[in-house]
Amino acid sequence: MAAAGSAVGLGNIWRFPYITGKYGGAAFLVVYIAVALIIGMSVMLAEMAIGRNAKLDAVGSLRKLGGQGWSIVGWMGFFCAFVILSYYAVIAGWAFAYIFEPFTDTFAMAQQGKAAEMFTSFIGNPVKAISFFLVAIAVTITVIYKGIAGGIEKSCKVLMPALFVILLILIVRALTLPGAGAGLEYYLKPDLSKITAEAVLNAIGQSFYSLSLAMGVMITYGSYVGKDVYLPSTVRSVVLVDTLIAFLAGLVIFPAAFAFGVEPNSGPGLTFITLPAVFAKMPMGKVFCSAFFILLFIAALTSMMSLLEVVVTYSIDQLGWSRPKATIAMGLAITLLGIPSALSQGAMEINIGAKSFLDFADYITNNVVMPIGGLLIAFFVGWRWAESAKNEITDNGQLEFPLYNVWIWVCRVVAPVAIGYVFIKNI
Ligand code: PHE
Repeated sequence: MAAAGSAVGLGNIWRFPYITGKYGGAAFLVVYIAVALIIGMSVMLAEMAIGRNAKLDAVGSLRKLGGQGWSIVGWMGFFCAFVILSYYAVIAGWAFAYIFEPFTDTFAMAQQGKAAEMFTSFIGNPVKAISFFLVAIAVTITVIYKGIAGGIEKSCKVLMPALFVILLILIVRALTLPGAGAGLEYYLKPDLSKITAEAVLNAIGQSFYSLSLAMGVMITYGSYVGKDVYLPSTVRSVVLVDTLIAFLAGLVIFPAAFAFGVEPNSGPGLTFITLPAVFAKMPMGKVFCSAFFILLFIAALTSMMSLLEVVVTYSIDQLGWSRPKATIAMGLAITLLGIPSALSQGAMEINIGAKSFLDFADYITNNVVMPIGGLLIAFFVGWRWAESAKNEITDNGQLEFPLYNVWIWVCRVVAPVAIGYVFIKNI
């Protein structure tokens, strides 16, 4: 449940549609699904098996099973978790703010067809940008500090199906908007000539991001999983749910974007611009809008908890810190790093190269460090740890794992070659 909570989040509803829009719609979708089901599922199983076997944080697990050199892969995960949380909380803050926006004057703008202006003025306001970010990160720190993560995850059992139902309602509304057909075509009718190395690299980055892979999360969570759990089923459910939610989000966003004349490649604001516009066209739109963003914020919260947990578990296992100390110290450090991201979206010019600070943090983690980390994990399990992995997954031969051979060759060859190829080609 925690793994599903980590996987389902802003990655599905905010990042997936805008990356899909940026890389050409349907063609990207095809690649994405293939990557998630083949490479993503395999790497998730590899990570969980590592964690459950070693019973340590990400860095410690890889050091224990592979020696000092392999602990670098754990470090890459630590780095990604730290950096991603810093900007993820900014977007989560936007979701939080949109719980209340419907009841303010700015929402009236969405009702007048000015959802884009509403969004731009919102993220460009420095006080709002910082304060909602602080709310998001403070809630995360509090949950991890108080050790109430379990309670949140249990409540997700009810809340996530609710998110699912609202998504279905939104799909019906979006598809019945005049002009929605073009969006549907854009999303579902692939033009395979649009598949470039860059698109594939982004599909890998997005699927790892969405499945919380290569950043220590699934190793850390695996370390808490009991021996009685059959990992392949767990992994299958998490990947299927995660991919389904992302797919459904696209069924709302693209038809709506076309109906309202929003460019599908308009970037990180895509979801936040199209959704209020859809809500504005629904009966009781304000209530639905608010409810939707409450659920989205909770989905984001369980993802943020998992990111912070990677960093905190490391500090406890490797540095010997107490949980409260680790949570506060790491939480504050991440908060400091997040401030420039929060401000970089219109309030101030904070750029690295051609990218805003937030985009750069997202790029360096998802397109650079994460693919390398994922490649190395697959390689490690495929070539260095295959026998032990088999024993771990089958409980020393007591359980069947019929797809073992397929899985291990994906880890050995398919994943490293695919990731390595698009990575180098893209550079
Ligand atoms: N998977 C989360 C999402 O899709 C984001 C995340 C990435 C969480 C990495 C943990 C680790 O929103």
